[in-house]
Amino acid sequence: MKLFSGRANRPLAEEIAKTLKTKLGKIEIKNFADGETYVNVLEQVRGYDVFLIQPTSFPADSNLMELLIMIDACKRASAARVTAVIPYFGYSKQDRKANHREPITAKLAANLITAAGADGVFTMDLHSDQIQGFFDIRLDFLYASQIIVDYVKKKNLKNLIVVAPDLGSSRRARSYAKRLNAGIALIDKRRPKPNVAEVLNLIGDVKGKSCLIVDDEINTGGTIVNAANAVLKHGAKEVFACCTHAVFAGDAVKKLEHSPLKEIIVTNTIALPQEKRTRKVKVLSVAPLIAASIKAIHTETSVSSLLNPAK
Ligand code: R5P
Repeated sequence: MKLFSGRANRPLAEEIAKTLKTKLGKIEIKNFADGETYVNVLEQVRGYDVFLIQPTSFPADSNLMELLIMIDACKRASAARVTAVIPYFGYSKQDRKANHREPITAKLAANLITAAGADGVFTMDLHSDQIQGFFDIRLDFLYASQIIVDYVKKKNLKNLIVVAPDLGSSRRARSYAKRLNAGIALIDKRRPKPNVAEVLNLIGDVKGKSCLIVDDEINTGGTIVNAANAVLKHGAKEVFACCTHAVFAGDAVKKLEHSPLKEIIVTNTIALPQEKRTRKVKVLSVAPLIAASIKAIHTETSVSSLLNPAK
């Protein structure tokens, strides 16, 4: 087995390698003067079971392209099997045609990964379940919910209620609520235009309660901050938020810092630069889970037994 990291989240890849008591393979990745990506695998992969760790987070286009080139390099160097380990699968929100003449870019990204020669994909908390079917190759996935649930349990929050910030998050919220032995509230959200979220209604009683808003990702922060304001308006005592993928686009961090949220619990599927790690942001590591999954894929043992499905 050999592990290699792209440039999108090397600290996570290093942590995964350390957990597996191995080292990342040597690979040269750079850009030519015109911006094109160059990859050179600096050690033998012929006959090896290769894992390439690269979330396709911001900048999604170049991180995805870098992954494709890494896959191509390993296949052409006769790797026995290549698994793309994509802790955050970018373009996943474009998973259907919301309007006529729109692309389904998540499907296109899956096609590209397959065409590049990946034999399998490992990912975490896909934005929607239908993306599983976009891959015609092996797809394994895990949820970060158990890591987050364990952390929240230790906070010993009294009178806890889990809040789904939109109807799409309701199954995830129900799963968290079950494991945290908490109630559930739902927010009816609408998006009048991309990147703008509006709260229409709040279903459930949050009065005097500690609220935990759960989502798969925080992008601009609009959904989470609006949900936090809504539950406080309805009498909640305090409000926390959690998500797997800290996309934190634009001024999301500023928005979160200035919001009434007490703490925002995220994971390191996406590399979070120091300036985005503010006092309110708690980052939990998914490295042990990913390492265990890589080991299971390599040894052909059960991956699903590592799962704690968020639904
Ligand atoms: C939407 O369906 C997702 O689950 C998240 O709620 C969304 O991506 C968050 O976006 P933002 O932070 O920009 O409101």
